[in-house]
Order: sequence, then C-alpha cells, then structure tokens
Amino acid sequence: MERTLVLLKPDAVQRGLSGQVIARIEARGLKIVGMKMLRMDRDLCGKHYAIHEGKPFFQGLVQFITSSPIVAIVFEGLNAVEVVRSTMGATDPAKAQPGTIRGDLGLDIGRNLVHGSDSRENAEKEISIFCSDEELFSYERSLDPWITETKEN
Ligand code: RTP
Ligand code: MG
Repeated sequence: MERTLVLLKPDAVQRGLSGQVIARIEARGLKIVGMKMLRMDRDLCGKHYAIHEGKPFFQGLVQFITSSPIVAIVFEGLNAVEVVRSTMGATDPAKAQPGTIRGDLGLDIGRNLVHGSDSRENAEKEISIFCSDEELFSYERSLDPWITETKEN
C-alpha cells in the first residue's frame, strides 16, 4: 500500500488545528501508520527541503518551520500521495479551492499549515528522514474493505 508523509506545520499546531487537519485526511479513508511530535532543526529542514535551498523563500521557510514543534504523520492507503495533495489544496492558500485544508483554513503561502509528499518516490525518502522502521506500524482495520475494494496498489 502507498504511504505518504504529512507534516502539521508550526502554524497548524499553534492555532489548535491539528485535530481538524488529521480528521480531514483520516475521513478520506487513509490510515495512520506512524505519528510523532518533534521540533525541526536547521539540519533536518535542509534535508527535507533540499530542493528549495537557495530560493528566495528558503530562509523564511527555515525560520518558520524550526520556530515551534510540528507533528509528523505517515498515512497509508490507496493513492495516498495524490489524495493527501488534493485534500491539502494548492500551495498558496489564496489560490486553494474552498473545501481543501489550505483553502478553508489558511491565507498566506508562508503559513500554509500542512506538508504532503509530492510523489511516491519523495514520500519514501521523506518518511525515512522522519521515521525509523520501528516507528511505523503494519496493521489491519476491520473497516478497510468498506473503504477500498482492493488491497493492491
Ligand atoms: P510543501 O512541500 O510544504 O508540502 O508545500 P508544496 O509542495 O505545496 O510547495 P513547495 O513548492 O514544495 O514549497 C514548500 C514550502 O515553501 C513555502 N513557499 N513559500 N513565498 C513563496 O513564494 C513560497 N513558495 C513556497 C511554502 O510554505 C511551501 O509549502
Ligand atoms: Mg513540496
């Protein structure tokens, strides 16, 4: 089954929106297989956002994401990467559709509440940055057959 990394960024935690964000993704049918709170440091931020190093917004992004604790969650399920991205909405909350997390709860691209991996390949890399194998769980839910027809993907 496909897995993806979600981060509840410092603004989501500070604003008391962690539960709402998790609930929206869980309600799609995705399953939590790992979760922890942590404070990102410069080193972890450099690894996670390596692709953005040198861009004009990078310093602000590092300052923001290291400023207060975050929650890292690994979700599993059919098309997990794509489903989380569409549930989050566009990067800039001003452009995100109503009904999405960013479109309903955010205003500013620099305070967009949530991160979700953008490809299956990046999801695997990001999960290994944030979680060890022992922190990830494989388990069945009795309702899974009511959410997906197939176990394959
Ligand atoms: P994320 O990686 O956090 O899930 O967000 P994303 O894929 O939707 O957007 P991405 O292009 O990867 O950008 C990473 C984060 O950098 C901040 N950003 N600020 N001021 C700006 O122009 C700007 N552009 C990007 C955002 O916090 C974005 O989520
Ligand atoms: Mg991204």
